[in-house]
Amino acid sequence: MSKPTIYVVIYSTWGHVKTLADSIIKGLNDGGQVNAELYRVAETLPQEVLDKMHAAKFDDIPVLDPKDLVKADAFLFGIPTRYGVPAAQVKAFWDATGGLWSTGALIGKYAGAFTSTASQHGGQETTIYTFIPHLVHHGIIFVPLGYQSKVLFSNEEVIGGSPWGAGTIANGDGSRQPSALELEVAETQGKTFAATVLKAWKPVAAE
Ligand SMILES: Cc1cc2nc3c(=O)[nH]c(=O)nc-3n(C[C@H](O)[C@H](O)[C@H](O)COP(=O)(O)O)c2cc1C
Repeated sequence: MSKPTIYVVIYSTWGHVKTLADSIIKGLNDGGQVNAELYRVAETLPQEVLDKMHAAKFDDIPVLDPKDLVKADAFLFGIPTRYGVPAAQVKAFWDATGGLWSTGALIGKYAGAFTSTASQHGGQETTIYTFIPHLVHHGIIFVPLGYQSKVLFSNEEVIGGSPWGAGTIANGDGSRQPSALELEVAETQGKTFAATVLKAWKPVAAE
């Protein structure tokens, strides 16, 4: 039996989004009914700038060619905030999808998003909110997390994440790592996103 393929596509400077992605993938793989693959978008900053930012290297994660989005049934984008909106690297990725847009190649596919910010109110919700127009113009169906994780009701400690999608709070210097609760929310997003995709999935009949 064939399985739907879900691409997890990230951009990450220090690894916070990558750590969330690992939990997202754990959730996607939970039921063993989807094929989850991790990719990153291409870097656009010069190495000199990346060195000054002490950016981590993610050479082991393949860079996704935008035209290969067509190969997946659904996508979860991991997007760190920049001034409350998605990092330019993610925007550049979508700006290279004109060919797919012109043929309607992504219409009816599913997508969700998760994020990372330095501070609690630095863009957890707006980063995902301002990502949605890319999906709308392509005819892609946005799948929010909603309140499917009970963690999102808790005010016991500072946590990233919202009904828009999982999230972490990194601190301005990147010193805070995703907490256990944030990773739990990310895992739930993977699990529930897979369930949504599977509801609409029509297996390809064996030849
Ligand atoms: C140019 C720039 C702008 C940023 N803008 C914001 C912001 O508006 N709000 C915020 O909370 N964090 C902001 N950040 C912090 C990043 O979102 C944070 O470092 C990132 O989420 C960490 O995740 P990563 O390690 O996966 O890249 C900014 C970082 C940079 C480099």
